[in-house]
Amino acid sequence: MSLPHLATLGAIFLATVLVPKFLRWRSRMAKLNAIPTVGNSGIFSSYTSARKFQNHALEIIQEGYEKYPGRAFKVPLPDGWHVLVSGKDMIDDIKKANDSDLSFQEAITETLQTDYTMGLAARIDPYQVDVVRTPLTRNLAAKFDDLRDEIQAAFGDEISAKESEWIKVPMLFTVMKIVSRTSNRYFVGLPLCRDSDYVRLNIEFTIDAFKGATVLRHYPGFLKPLVRHFLTNVPACVARATKHLEPVIRERLRKEEEYGTTDWPDKPNDLISWLLDEANTTERRKNIVFEIVSRILLINMAAIHTTSITFTNTLYQLAANPDIAQPLREEVQACVNEQGWTKAAMGQMRKLDSFMKETQRIIGVGGLASSRMVMKDFTFSNGIEVPAGTILSSASYSLHHDGVSGLLGLPIYDLNILTSIPPQNVYEKPEDLDPFRFSNMRTKEGEGFKHQMVAQDPSYALFGHGGKHMCPGRFFAVNELKALVGHVLLNYDIKFENNGGVPPAHWDGVTVSPNRTASVMFRKRPAKA
Ligand code: HEM
Ligand SMILES: *[C@@H]1O[C@H](CO)[C@@H](O)[C@H](O)[C@H]1NC(C)=O
Ligand SMILES: *[C@@H]1O[C@H](CO)[C@@H](O)[C@H](O)[C@H]1NC(C)=O
Ligand SMILES: *[C@@H]1O[C@H](CO)[C@@H](O)[C@H](O)[C@H]1NC(C)=O
Repeated sequence: MSLPHLATLGAIFLATVLVPKFLRWRSRMAKLNAIPTVGNSGIFSSYTSARKFQNHALEIIQEGYEKYPGRAFKVPLPDGWHVLVSGKDMIDDIKKANDSDLSFQEAITETLQTDYTMGLAARIDPYQVDVVRTPLTRNLAAKFDDLRDEIQAAFGDEISAKESEWIKVPMLFTVMKIVSRTSNRYFVGLPLCRDSDYVRLNIEFTIDAFKGATVLRHYPGFLKPLVRHFLTNVPACVARATKHLEPVIRERLRKEEEYGTTDWPDKPNDLISWLLDEANTTERRKNIVFEIVSRILLINMAAIHTTSITFTNTLYQLAANPDIAQPLREEVQACVNEQGWTKAAMGQMRKLDSFMKETQRIIGVGGLASSRMVMKDFTFSNGIEVPAGTILSSASYSLHHDGVSGLLGLPIYDLNILTSIPPQNVYEKPEDLDPFRFSNMRTKEGEGFKHQMVAQDPSYALFGHGGKHMCPGRFFAVNELKALVGHVLLNYDIKFENNGGVPPAHWDGVTVSPNRTASVMFRKRPAKA
């Protein structure tokens, strides 16, 4: 090829490939640059790098939240710029946006590297979410006896407290075992839910998956399939889960074959059946054992740690504030006397609901909520633009602790005409644990359901802010949690050694877990006459 010819080709290449790429990059940077950065000025001047952000995430986010109320700012996270937003209007925009503009799945795929850890199918066709939303939730009343039975058995095995004797229980790990067992009694039933390897697997898988994702993020795409095998535990976890679940799944498939229908007699009413029911197309039946196993793992991953953290936070507050126990205990006892250990009884427990919601407002599961990947350049209703390829989230921890506005130092509720932040975004004395904050709100006319833990609430984001992706497991989680905390209230007295307070939580970047090594003292309450 002659030189001039090559130059022409080069020019065409530049014009058609590189120039548009450069222009897109420049336009993206211009849009990102228009969003103020927090964490590289003033008192945080030394914390500019993502690594430093890791240790000071909350302070940096709080700085942005106070400086730019109802607007956006960006922070350097290890996986790139995150844009954080606040205020009802911007949060509403996220709730309303569809997946082709702001994608929940893509944000998860990026943070958890699920394509390499869980395979593609669970992302491209995430029918396990529909299973959680519908059959899993609908069967709560029907399957409540199973939950209750497993809670009694699990506490009997894990917490062998006697009357008139305090024993010390390492809390978070014990709770994880109880929650893994209880949830899996509901998901896969006996005897698997009590198999110690299966119980541990469901605890370890989440940790291994997160660790694996951190490793994978550092490698280019073409190396990831290889790296996943050598540097992460994920394939080993999948193999372990398959060992436990494959015989059960194969047996169900055999029954379908034998009876020539998916509706065979005495079919168990559990997650395996619900997933198989939903997998009713040829496409979904391909590689069915792996598909069902990985979806059961995914559901456990969404369920076990979140529920365990919530339960532990609640127990820590209960142990630190023993005076709260009596009114809660009276409520639980009254509801159970009237309706037994049923879903209906759980629904009556308003004080317990409020206390659990409040303990999670105080600490919760992390600093951010409603994370989404921007798929196409996105313009918020207030005009703020965020370029494609950026992850955005709401600064939920700051929201949960939002008491007074920066404006003139006056409380926002006096100024809500001047600001776009509505009064319900404000918590009175947000740093105080007010156990019946939400149940007191519910006594108001017409607000009986509005402030319950599972409700969509503009000032509360434990389960997300609402919209299509708000946690579909929240009805299951809250019912299970009430049965768990209710069981503790009626059967044990709990406190910290030396009457201590709640031990400091463990923050790692924007995620938080309750203190992992602290113990709680348990003593059996005298059996009722
Ligand atoms: C206290 C316990 C729990 C907490 C705090 C929690 C929190 C969340 C949050 C914050 C989201 C994302 C919402 C969003 O970004 O809009 C979510 C999604 C999800 N959660 Fe939960 N969750 C809990 C328990 C559960 C349980 C028990 C299950 C299953 C039985 C579950 C299944 C899911 C699933 C499948 C999704 C993804 C939804 C989708 O793809 O649209 N969660 N959860
Ligand atoms: C998503 O929303 C945008 C505008 O908000 C609209 O143009 C687009 O058609 C929607 N896409 C889908 C798949 O609904
Ligand atoms: C597959 O199952 C879903 C949910 O159970 C149902 O809505 C749908 O109609 C079924 N489709 C077929 C082809 O049977
Ligand atoms: C957790 O609690 C234990 C005992 O209460 C304490 O020794 C430890 O320092 C705490 N851990 C963290 C990370 O705060």
